[in-house]
Amino acid sequence: QELELKLEMLEKGGYDHFMLKEIYEQPRSIRDCLRGRIYPTEGLVQLGGIKDYIEKLKELDRIIIVACGTSWHAGLVGEYLIEEYARVPVEVEYASEFRYRNPIITPNDLVIAISQSGETADTMAAIELAKEMGATIFGICNVVGASIPRITHAGVYTHAGPEIGVASTKAFTAQVTILTLMAFYIAQQRGNITQSKFIEYLTELDKVPDLVEQTLKCNDTVKAIAERFKDSANCLFLGRGVSFPVALEGALKLKEISYIHAEGYPAAEMKHGPIALIDAEMPVVFIATKNSSYEKVISNIQEVKARGGKVIAIVSEGDVEVKEMADYVIEIPLTGETFVPLLATIPLQLLSYHIAVMRGCNVDQPRNLAKSVTVE
Ligand code: G6P
Repeated sequence: QELELKLEMLEKGGYDHFMLKEIYEQPRSIRDCLRGRIYPTEGLVQLGGIKDYIEKLKELDRIIIVACGTSWHAGLVGEYLIEEYARVPVEVEYASEFRYRNPIITPNDLVIAISQSGETADTMAAIELAKEMGATIFGICNVVGASIPRITHAGVYTHAGPEIGVASTKAFTAQVTILTLMAFYIAQQRGNITQSKFIEYLTELDKVPDLVEQTLKCNDTVKAIAERFKDSANCLFLGRGVSFPVALEGALKLKEISYIHAEGYPAAEMKHGPIALIDAEMPVVFIATKNSSYEKVISNIQEVKARGGKVIAIVSEGDVEVKEMADYVIEIPLTGETFVPLLATIPLQLLSYHIAVMRGCNVDQPRNLAKSVTVE
């Protein structure tokens, strides 16, 4: 047994939990995910797995993303980015709903199935259904040779490496990385992006692993915040635009491993319900980075403050305005809006990690959850 324990310590690479190890692996896993795929100076993206479908990408009418759990949140980020850059309509569906609702699918649709494990039963069933209706199916999977990559027409692996913690961390950022890359790639194939812009975006994407590395320096700040809020009964996560799915993922992470009730909402939607919950006991996490909705998010923060809520804000480095209002701030490096999800996710992962540890929860194997759900 002692040997087993030692082996496990070794596997965790000196970290207390697999989840923490996997959080810290993200600069590397994102780099691995991009390796051999982007050539910023040449303005080139190579996605070998889908290169035979370039004509299809040019002609398709619509993209439907199907996934479950954290992968579904990555899909929502994908929706924002693909619509923004490639100008193709995107729908994101829970695989479990899609498969039972007689969806309208045509051969001009591309279905992208996202799955870390590549084994999720609902996602597999959704793929089979879309396939029968003639759609082209791409997979974005982490586990090489899993079932989903075998039933899709083409796909891209995330190459994040094995993810042991039940709560997904590095697989999520790898999925978002691939979707970001795909958004640029499809945009280029469809002629919706100039070569100079394409080069500019790839150059920025190439810097993301280093920015994630810098972001991880927020750990001590996040830990102190965790200490303050570890006994909360509820928590709200708010963001706008591409940060809305990040808020959803932050809330999911917290409930999965700390069992604190948490909800993610688009910040502006708060006034249609969640605002009623706000009192002095309610921590509200805002993703308030410097981007197009910055000013709008500031008004949402003021609304929370006016009702006595405690605001934890993720802000861009050097921010002044939000800092004056928020009770706690976590700085992340300044980056283009498109890349915010890849950075803003990191402090949220750390926040739920530390809170869960402080509450004595089993971080790597939370109760009632499975790493891969192969049943309906
Ligand atoms: C389970 C896991 C989640 C995961 C979801 C989808 O619920 O606990 O972390 O996001 O399944 O799994 P997949 O392997 O398809 O991404």
